[in-house]
Amino acid sequence: MSAPDFVVAGSPVWLGPLAQTLLPWLQEHRAAYSGLFGMIDGNVYTHWGEAVEATMGQAPRYVMPAGGSYVPGGMEALKTLDTCQALWGAMLEAQLDRRGLALIFGGGALGDVGGFCAATYKRGIAFAHIPTTLLAMTDAALGGKVGLDFRGIKNAVGAFCQPVAVFADPTFLQTLPPREWHSGLAEVVKHAYIGAPKLLQYLQQQPNLMNTPQAIPPEEWQRLLRASIAVKARIVNEDPLERGLRALLNFGHTFGHGLESYFLRLEQPITHGEAIAVGMLCELEDPSPADLALLRPLLPPVPLAQVPWPEVWASMQQDKKNLNGQVIATIPGQTPYSLRKTTLTAVEAEHRWRRSLEQIGQA
Ligand code: GLY
Repeated sequence: MSAPDFVVAGSPVWLGPLAQTLLPWLQEHRAAYSGLFGMIDGNVYTHWGEAVEATMGQAPRYVMPAGGSYVPGGMEALKTLDTCQALWGAMLEAQLDRRGLALIFGGGALGDVGGFCAATYKRGIAFAHIPTTLLAMTDAALGGKVGLDFRGIKNAVGAFCQPVAVFADPTFLQTLPPREWHSGLAEVVKHAYIGAPKLLQYLQQQPNLMNTPQAIPPEEWQRLLRASIAVKARIVNEDPLERGLRALLNFGHTFGHGLESYFLRLEQPITHGEAIAVGMLCELEDPSPADLALLRPLLPPVPLAQVPWPEVWASMQQDKKNLNGQVIATIPGQTPYSLRKTTLTAVEAEHRWRRSLEQIGQA
């Protein structure tokens, strides 16, 4: 089979149709594993059952309940101990042993919680990601972050554990709901701000892409994904365990996670990328009209002015990046791949929140 498109923290990453990536890889590596176990998003199974079956054959699997109609950000609600119980239980029932391989078909949320379950089952079995959303292809499936939300705090429990391989097939994007496109685009935009000025310029000049990403042909998406993944790969390879530079990938996430956690507690989730788009706007020192034009199509379609700021701030105080009780935002510096840290006092954070609401006409 062809060489991987990227290697991220030791994990090979292939971009392209599964028939040319995952299937030949399995032929080559299947004998190294005692059995396969599928963790499969229910919506993915509904739309892409044949592709999943072509990979899984008769192997045991757990299909996450699809839950009827699409709920934006709804998959995040699966990152719980209940889901872990279901996945661990299904692996035990399938008598999967320590040399088993879990294949995880889904978006970022299933990748996180499924990866966590694989990383802890019988002290850890191998797993491969088959990301099916733009967000998971460009970010979540890369770099080995696994975990779940706990007591209303995003990713409060988790670990670093690298997948044995990642297979990103843009074909899956065809059935992505519009808000999931925008969610993934927010991470692409984040990577552009962090390390790809040409990609940033391109995105700024393509209002059609930002407004209707689903209209862009798959070949173009493959090109954009390549440019976006290159940023993530470079950062994770330099700092896989987030001792320094990798914190740059959390640009937008200090405010973003606070907001996302608030809507999760309300049981009216917004998507991760929508929250991060708001977060990037708040965390940029001095957003320009071009920044605003880029981020505006990615914002959540909810009245942000009604969000009680103290609740967002309370969640921000639980952020993993915080040290010694200080809330820290990590933002891009003047040059690509340079990291700036800003300590946010309560006053400064609230100022930035209100400034952003004004800028988007929601004050
Ligand atoms: N999604 C941020 C990271 O992987 O570090």
